[in-house]
Amino acid sequence: MNILGIESSCDETGVAVVGFGGEGAPVLRGAALHSQVQMHEAYGGVVPELASRDHVRRVLPLAEAALSEAGLHLADIDVVAFTRGPGLAGALLVGAGVACGLAAALNRPTLGVHHLEGHLLSPFLSADPPSFPFVALLVSGGHTQLMRVDGVGRYEMLGETIDDAAGEAFDKSAKMLGLGYPGGPALARLAEQGRDDAFDLPRPLLHQANLDFSFAGLKTAVMTAWKRLGDAPSPTQKADLAASAQAAIVDVLCTKALRALRDTGLSRLVVAGGVGANARLRASLDAACARRGVRVHYPELHLCTDNGAMIALAAAMRCRAGLARLANDYRFSVRPRWDLAQAGEA
Ligand code: KG4
Ligand code: ZN
Repeated sequence: MNILGIESSCDETGVAVVGFGGEGAPVLRGAALHSQVQMHEAYGGVVPELASRDHVRRVLPLAEAALSEAGLHLADIDVVAFTRGPGLAGALLVGAGVACGLAAALNRPTLGVHHLEGHLLSPFLSADPPSFPFVALLVSGGHTQLMRVDGVGRYEMLGETIDDAAGEAFDKSAKMLGLGYPGGPALARLAEQGRDDAFDLPRPLLHQANLDFSFAGLKTAVMTAWKRLGDAPSPTQKADLAASAQAAIVDVLCTKALRALRDTGLSRLVVAGGVGANARLRASLDAACARRGVRVHYPELHLCTDNGAMIALAAAMRCRAGLARLANDYRFSVRPRWDLAQAGEA
C-alpha cells in the first residue's frame, strides 16, 4: 500500500509517499519539499495569499519529484492524503483541491489529515520509533501542547498555551533582535554565543501546578530588556539576550514536560513540531529524562518542521489501525481551526 501525502497548511509545500516495510512498519519511500520562507521574509511573516499562490505553483512538480524518488508512478498510489487543517484556509484549499483532483483521476480514495497528528506521529519514521503510550510535547509555530497519547487517534490534552506558542516566542524575540523571519533557528544560533543567565527573564506559569503554558509575558520582558540596552547594543549583549530568552523558553517546556510524565506515570516522551529541532531543548530534555529513566523520541531533524512525509505517515497509520475515514466522493472542505481531539471526525 502506498499513500501520497500533501502538506500545504502554511508556508511549506510538501509531498511524500509512505508505504509499509517488511514488518508492517511505515517507510518513507520518497519526499519533496519547498519552503516559502524566502518569499515571506520581506514581509516579516507569512502573507496568506502569496502562500496559496505559491502552493499552486509548486505542488505538482513536487508530487512528480516525490514519486520519482520513490520509483513509483501515480497509478501505484492507493490513497491520496492531504492536510485538512488547522492552517491558512486558502493554503489548505490548494492541497485539498489537488489531492481530490488526483484521487478522482486515479479512482482512489482521499483522506483529510490533521496537521498536528502528522507532527505527533512523525517520530514513527525515525530509526528509533516510539511505542504507545507516551506523553507528547508538541511545539510548533502555532501550537504548544502536552498530550497523553495512547494510540493512533487516542489523544488526551493535558495542557496547552493560554496565549503565544513556543515557536512564536522564538520568532517574536528574534524579530525584536532584528534576526528576520522565521527567527527560531537564527535566535538559536545567536544564543550559542551568549550567556543563559545574563538577563533575568520570567518563566511564566512555571510554578503553577498545571500543565499550561504562557509565553506572552516573556515576549514583553524580552522587549523591555532590549529597549533598556539603548540604540546600539553590543554583539555580546545581543547574544546574551538571545541565550537568556531561549533558556527561559526551554526551561518552561522542559519543566512542564517532566511534570506531565510524573502526573501520567508514563516513561516515554515524544517531542514534535518545529521547535523540537532546537538543540538546547533536546539537550535539556535528554539530560532530565536520562536522570528519570524516561525515553525521549524525536522526529528526524528534517521532519521536525512542516513536510509531506508526516501527512502521508499519519494517513498510513490511520489506515493500518482501521481508523481512516476514506472518502470517495471527491468533495472537499478544509478546517482552518480544528481541535486534535476531533481529528478522526469528518
Ligand atoms: O512545526 P512548524 O514547522 O510549523 C508550524 O506548524 O507552526 O514550526 C515552525 C516553528 C517556527 O516558529 C520556527 O521558528 C520554529 O518552529 N523553529 C525553531 C527551530 N527550528 C524551527 N525554534 C527554535 N529553534 C530551532 N532550531
Ligand atoms: Zn506544523
